Amino acid sequence: MGPAEIAAESTTESAVTDPRFDALNVPVYRASTLVFENTAAFLARKSQLFDGYSYGLYGTPTTRALEAEVARAEGGRRTTLLPSGLAALTHTALALLSAGDHVLVADCVYGPLREYTVSAMQRLGITVDFIAADAADLSAHLKPRTRLVSLESPGSFTMEIQDIAALCRQAHAAGARVLMDNTWGFGRSCMFEHGVDIVATALSKYGCGHSDVCMGAVTVREESLFKTLKRAFAGMGTGVSSDDAYLVLRGMGTLDLRLAEQARRGLQISQWLRSQPAVARVMNPADPADPGHLRFQQYFSGGNGLVSFMPRTQRLAAISAMLDGFRHFRIGASWGGISSLAAVTDLATSRSVSPRTAGNYIVRLHAGLEPFDDLMQDLAKGLQRLHDADPPAA
Ligand SMILES: Cc1ncc(COP(=O)(O)O)c(C=O)c1O
Repeated sequence: MGPAEIAAESTTESAVTDPRFDALNVPVYRASTLVFENTAAFLARKSQLFDGYSYGLYGTPTTRALEAEVARAEGGRRTTLLPSGLAALTHTALALLSAGDHVLVADCVYGPLREYTVSAMQRLGITVDFIAADAADLSAHLKPRTRLVSLESPGSFTMEIQDIAALCRQAHAAGARVLMDNTWGFGRSCMFEHGVDIVATALSKYGCGHSDVCMGAVTVREESLFKTLKRAFAGMGTGVSSDDAYLVLRGMGTLDLRLAEQARRGLQISQWLRSQPAVARVMNPADPADPGHLRFQQYFSGGNGLVSFMPRTQRLAAISAMLDGFRHFRIGASWGGISSLAAVTDLATSRSVSPRTAGNYIVRLHAGLEPFDDLMQDLAKGLQRLHDADPPAA
């Protein structure tokens, strides 16, 4: 066979359909353009939005494989991927709310969602009220046009858990849907069992697990709600790349093992922090000593590597001395990977129901998978720096 015949035989088509090549992992299908068998299939391509394929933005075999995996992990039926956890939250609100509607938001939601809610939602004529981070009763807040209740349990930084089942019952009786940011509980909860209608999760955290992808997911059980959301997300032009979906799929394979080990470390760290005089309060609902532990047991089957604490000193210079000197806990916010992180926030800028004065600093640690003894030594030295920078009055 001459070169021309060989080239003619080895077309792209034969390479991708060769039955002798059976990769163990889901391949990365990259595409914007898909081609159709005939004119009729091309003209009918919009019918492919929910389960088939029509354009790379709306789904590829790689993104669909991840959607199925995430739906399983959340205990849902249908998942749609979005470019970030924040997009999963904001796009869901945009898809479901109209001018004149009212939304209730838990006081402890992820900061950028709070900012978006108070700015963009209000600009669009949607009114917003905040409810307590550990709310158990909505009755005083519901209005005739309340359409969405947006929860996050445990809450960002402060880790309160709402009484999810009670809030869902009240919301449904008032004709509102409940959206849960389940980033913390991903792989360790089934929010649908407690009445949640829509679960939004930042896969950028434990789902991906390696701090190198931004992605979010919206999962539901109800087919008609899935179609409403998918149509809206596609209409807004959101989608994710197959390369990123591949990385998250790879991370999902080790999710349970990583979570188990990181939760074990998180618990050990929170129990140790409780014994430290430089620490005023520790927040980790997976710890039996935490005031939120009963609700944790009701709603989650396990914890993770996140632990927050309030330093006894609230002097930023002392807190900075602790953080700046860490060797293993790097200063950074997007948790859920294999690296240990430390972040600080001033609650004065991020709570409405229980407003705080300036200088209400909370430190959030994320236990990574570095040698654990090194992490504990790093923490012990850090707390010593915290103490030395602002020793208690004699
Ligand atoms: C609880 C929670 N929800 C949502 C997000 C947003 O995720 P992403 O960074 O993918 O937008 C984050 C990010 O830190 C988060 O902590």
